[in-house]
Amino acid sequence: MRPSGVPTWFRRSSAVALAGVLLAGAAAGQQRRLIQPQKLAPYVTSPQPIVVKMLEIAGLKHGEMLYDLGCGDGRIVATAAKEFGAKAVGVELSPALAKRAREAVESQGLQQQVKIIEGDMMGVDLSSADVVALYLLTEANEQLRPKLEKELKPGARVVSLEFRIKGWKPARVEKVEAHRHPYTIYLYQRPQK
Ligand SMILES: C[S@@+](CC[C@H](N)C(=O)[O-])C[C@H]1O[C@@H](n2cnc3c(N)ncnc32)[C@H](O)[C@@H]1O
Repeated sequence: MRPSGVPTWFRRSSAVALAGVLLAGAAAGQQRRLIQPQKLAPYVTSPQPIVVKMLEIAGLKHGEMLYDLGCGDGRIVATAAKEFGAKAVGVELSPALAKRAREAVESQGLQQQVKIIEGDMMGVDLSSADVVALYLLTEANEQLRPKLEKELKPGARVVSLEFRIKGWKPARVEKVEAHRHPYTIYLYQRPQK
């Protein structure tokens, strides 16, 4: 026993335990930073005539599954369900926008066809998608490309507004005007196998 009344072995083992807790905490913090979702594009909406054009160019059919990665206020997923009879999933990082998208879906009575996921698009499984809609940035598309290559089924289509997917050859490039502004829509198709 020492004068403090605390045995030496106890102080030693406490120090080891504390060091362990600190190291585990630091590792968890590090991991949290590593998996921190990244904002891949700012919020800008696609004009409604462009939304319809994108879905037409993608050849979206009744009953098919569309994913909008970064769905903003949900206009693409709502249009896919309402005007094309598709099922749709919108993924949105911003809680406020995800809430707005969910409210838009509910106010149009589309809950059976459309699901809104609040979260990071990089963590969402895309294997059921027939069509993926993107309105991101060139660098974001570049970051997403390996995930699309890994998860999309043969023949799935990707329609991207304004920004190409580097390294992929578009099946179609369409210039469209809306509200006196020119837009470019890129259509890609994964190999049939
Ligand atoms: C240019 S807006 C497109 C909105 C909508 N798709 C449209 O065309 O009207 C891009 C959206 O992606 C969202 N976003 C950015 N990074 C994201 C991420 N890592 N995961 C999910 N959404 C993300 C932004 O919050 C924003 O709403």
